[in-house]
Amino acid sequence: MSTEALEQTLVLIKPDALKLSLTGYLLSQLSEFHTGLRLAALKIVQVSEMLASAHYAEHRGKFFYPPLIDYIRGKLHYPNEPGRRRVVAIVYSGPDAVKVIRRIAGPTSPHVARDAAPGTVRALGTVVPVKEASGAVLGERMDNLIHASATLEEAEREIKLWFEPRDIMPYMRAYETATCEEHYYYKDGALLLEHTPGSIGLLAPGVKAWASDLAALRALTRGEPASTPLDSIAAKYLINREPEPA
Ligand code: GTP
Ligand code: MG
Repeated sequence: MSTEALEQTLVLIKPDALKLSLTGYLLSQLSEFHTGLRLAALKIVQVSEMLASAHYAEHRGKFFYPPLIDYIRGKLHYPNEPGRRRVVAIVYSGPDAVKVIRRIAGPTSPHVARDAAPGTVRALGTVVPVKEASGAVLGERMDNLIHASATLEEAEREIKLWFEPRDIMPYMRAYETATCEEHYYYKDGALLLEHTPGSIGLLAPGVKAWASDLAALRALTRGEPASTPLDSIAAKYLINREPEPA
């Protein structure tokens, strides 16, 4: 199986795009016909706090971080309908995948996109004021319809964050996998090797996982620093397992 030079990128169709029924339009814009890229994987995801904060870890502490997390979790567009809060997560594969999709997505800010890159997806987005409880405006929030990985390194981190190997057909896997040899469970932020009441199973012997995740889990069980945080690994295995609290 040849996977060398298989460039991939992660796309998220965000809750505002779903609310506006833009999914079909976006899939069409991103189709192989227009981009030369192939669909490698696709799933509908209920975005947990853990997954959202792992995805946007680089923005932690910024003024727009709390609304950004609520936005990607669908809480802003579906405040009273938790069952409709979701994103469509997609992996595209092919030459220059990262660059090609970023070009179609356009600049981060919908205002900039409308001025500087009309015709891009984000030119259809909106900019919303972010207010504190008193009503004072703190800044703005960018509802920009789509996420697209910005670099190859970001694409690898993000694809491994949102997708297990078995979500992707074997011919379309771009990153090294290995077979798990342990039982791994998760409870209250801790990694366990045996089931205890209330713990949730993450991985079992014989299951294919990203090799980098298995290396990180082995390091964590030895009390050593790991290249991937435990929450980033656990978040993926907890996707769509339990209803998110309203
Ligand atoms: P993504 O594809 O969503 O990752 O966007 P990006 O790569 O173009 O931008 P970046 O990763 O820097 O930011 C992630 C998200 O945070 C953006 O989509 C915006 O919604 C939000 N964001 C980033 N920078 C700003 C900012 O300066 N102000 C505000 N209000 N929001 C920002
Ligand atoms: Mg980004």
